[in-house]
Amino acid sequence: MITKPKGCYDITGVDSHLYRQIEDTVHSYANVYNYKYIRTPLFENAELFKRGVGESSDIVQKETYDFTDRSGRVMTLRPEGTAGVVRNFIEDKLYGGAINPVKQYYLGTMYRYERPGNGRNREFTQFGVEALGSDDPLIDAEVISMSVNILKELGLDVTVRINNLGSVQCRENYKQALLQYLKPHMSSLCEDCQKRAEINPLRILDCKVDGQTEFLKGAPNILNYQSEESNERFHKVLEYLDYLDVNYEIDHNLVRGLDYYDYMVYELVLDDSLALGGGGRYNHLVNELDGPTTPCVGFACGVERIINLLKERYTENNQVDVYVMAINEEEKMKANIILQDLRLSGIVAETNYQERGLKAQFKDADRHGAKQLIILNSEDLAKGLVNIKDNLTKEEHKVPEDEIIDYIIGVI
Ligand code: HAM
Repeated sequence: MITKPKGCYDITGVDSHLYRQIEDTVHSYANVYNYKYIRTPLFENAELFKRGVGESSDIVQKETYDFTDRSGRVMTLRPEGTAGVVRNFIEDKLYGGAINPVKQYYLGTMYRYERPGNGRNREFTQFGVEALGSDDPLIDAEVISMSVNILKELGLDVTVRINNLGSVQCRENYKQALLQYLKPHMSSLCEDCQKRAEINPLRILDCKVDGQTEFLKGAPNILNYQSEESNERFHKVLEYLDYLDVNYEIDHNLVRGLDYYDYMVYELVLDDSLALGGGGRYNHLVNELDGPTTPCVGFACGVERIINLLKERYTENNQVDVYVMAINEEEKMKANIILQDLRLSGIVAETNYQERGLKAQFKDADRHGAKQLIILNSEDLAKGLVNIKDNLTKEEHKVPEDEIIDYIIGVI
């Protein structure tokens, strides 16, 4: 038997229902916040993620799915959506347009070679937005509150954990101070963090290895290494969030796993869940990828992690509105038309597709949770009538054929 690849899932049943619900919510929120839908390729030149997400990130170091195509080009299945959106922004010269910032949103599959389980898949879905071309803290607050509002609409009241990484210079100053603090502890760092100390020491703050988190509590606070300009803009973002009643906590150890961030970074959590989403400002990425300097901000959320939480509260409602019962050919012919009329009127209608007697059809109607039953018989049909039974109260009515739709709409 051929099975699905490790860390990948078939999306069926309740999950697929919730996917649709999340997708619909994302499309409708993106519409009112005026973000435009963008679909970028599932794979890109490997170079894009190396330079975009960053050589020192765990993603590029050990999680990308790389392959060489038949012409020898090295490609990578996208591990996230931001780099592709930025590549498109530069390639299509969207920076030259009249509308600024360019506001894009996406929904799609991403790939990371992670250890599967506990909310980590190898194939997973993100929705996200990117606003390219504005440095205004107002748009930082818009992006954060939009992500919070989408999750609220889905029934998840999340907390924002937020931090300020500051400018390149602020980060550099902080990096030196952090390394100074870590020097005597170097040998007690985990293997990964010893490497991080050389390529991106800030990532050490994010380490979840037991024992290490304790002495990191005494590490210098990045918020004390900010310039006045960086501090001011961070507090402006927080002020806007206060006005929007967004629930946030400042977490000066939050650094995020991608290299492109500066200034504000944030994650969305529910109690002590894994991050449902995250994002931040990235003012150097467009430039890094050979475009003009363009301040940007965005976020992405993981659909599967959201579904895992929603599933706990989900009560299945797969009821059909009407079940049409027919036995002989004349009744089936009539059922054929009635079913189409019902469905084209937006009524969920089901019928029997097997050689089954009435008793078995009643059972089948129950299995579908049918609210109303249309029980066809030749005698009624000869008089232009159909028999409609309420499957809960068991009350029956003879209804003229041309009034079926109105009747059903009135009772479901
Ligand atoms: P990220 O934090 O790497 O950010 O991913 C965003 C979200 O995707 C996570 O919070 C999580 O819910 C979900 N996710 C990530 N990896 C996995 C996985 N292996 N399995 C299941 N879910 C996962 C980004 O990707 C940035 N591009 C966000 C961003 C947009 N920053 C600015 N603009």
